[in-house]
Amino acid sequence: MYVDTDIRSICPQRQTSQDLTPLLDSQGRPSILASPMVEEPFSQFASYYDRFMVKYVDYKSWVEYFERIFKRFGLHPKTILDLACGTGIPTMLLARRGHEIIALDRSPEMLQILDSKKQGLPIKTIRADIRDFSLPSQVDAAVCLYDSLNYLLVEEDLVCCFSCVRRALVEGGLFAFDMNTVYGLAEFWGTRTTMREAGGVQSVWQNSYDAESRVSTLHLTFWEIPKVGPPGTKFEEIHQERAYYPEEVERCLRQAGFREVYIYQHGGFIAPGPCTTRMMVVAK
Ligand SMILES: C[S@@+](CC[C@H](N)C(=O)[O-])C[C@H]1O[C@@H](n2cnc3c(N)ncnc32)[C@H](O)[C@@H]1O
Repeated sequence: MYVDTDIRSICPQRQTSQDLTPLLDSQGRPSILASPMVEEPFSQFASYYDRFMVKYVDYKSWVEYFERIFKRFGLHPKTILDLACGTGIPTMLLARRGHEIIALDRSPEMLQILDSKKQGLPIKTIRADIRDFSLPSQVDAAVCLYDSLNYLLVEEDLVCCFSCVRRALVEGGLFAFDMNTVYGLAEFWGTRTTMREAGGVQSVWQNSYDAESRVSTLHLTFWEIPKVGPPGTKFEEIHQERAYYPEEVERCLRQAGFREVYIYQHGGFIAPGPCTTRMMVVAK
C-alpha cells in the first residue's frame, strides 16, 4: 500500500539529519506521532482506506491496464478472482465493466466495506487467506492489485498462493498481478516519511527498509481532524512488504505450475528497468 503519486515528504531521504531535527523526537520518530494505539494492518485504516486511495491512486487506469492485458492475451474473461480485494475499489470497477467477480481477502474490516457498497453488482466476497484457499468453481482470470503480494514475506508463501490461484483457474486462464520492485521498496520508499490528508483524516507514512531481508516496514499513523473540536484518537498500523526480484517471482510461479510468465514495467508492455518501482506479472 505504498502510494506513489502526489506525496508531500516531511523527511525525504535527501535531507540531512540537521534538517529533520525540529520534526523528530528522541527516538527519531516524527514528534507529532506520540503514543498512537497500535492495531492490526487494515483493521482501523479500513474505514478511511477509500478516502485516501480514491484521492491518491488512479484505479481506473489500473483496471484499464488489466483489460489491455486480457486483450493482448486473447482472453475475454467472464469470471474473475480479485485476490486480496480489500475494500473492492478495483473489484467494483471490474464488475461495472461486465465481469462476474469473486473477491477474496482475509481482513473482515476491508470486506465489510466492500459488502456495504456492492449493491446488486455480481460480486461474491470470500474471507480467506490468499496462501490457503479454494473456490467453489473455477474462474477465467485472477487479478491482484496494489502490492498485495508483497505482503507475503517468504517465497514459500508466494508458492502456496500461486498454487491456490493455479487450481482456481480454468485451463488457459490467466493470472495478472502487480508488485513493488526491489528498487521501489529499497530506493524509492527507502526511509521516506510522508504526510497525507484525505477527507478529514491526517496521516503520516514512515518507511524503513532492511536490505538483508528485503522487507520494508511502514508505520502508518492516522487520526481524524474534525472541523471543530480536538483531533481524534491516533492509531498506528505496521505494514510489512517484501521485495522480490522478477526471477524469484517467475521461479515461484513455475513451481506452482504456471508454464508462461511475462513481466512488465507497470502500465505497459516493456521489460522492467533498473529504476522501475512497480512491475506487472502475467502468468498462464
Ligand atoms: C494494499 S491492500 C490492496 C487492496 C485492493 N487490492 C486494492 O487494490 O485496493 C492489500 C490487501 O491485501 C490483503 N492481504 C494481505 N495479506 C493477505 C493474506 N495473507 N490473505 C488475504 N488477504 C491479504 C489485506 O487485507 C488488504 O486488503
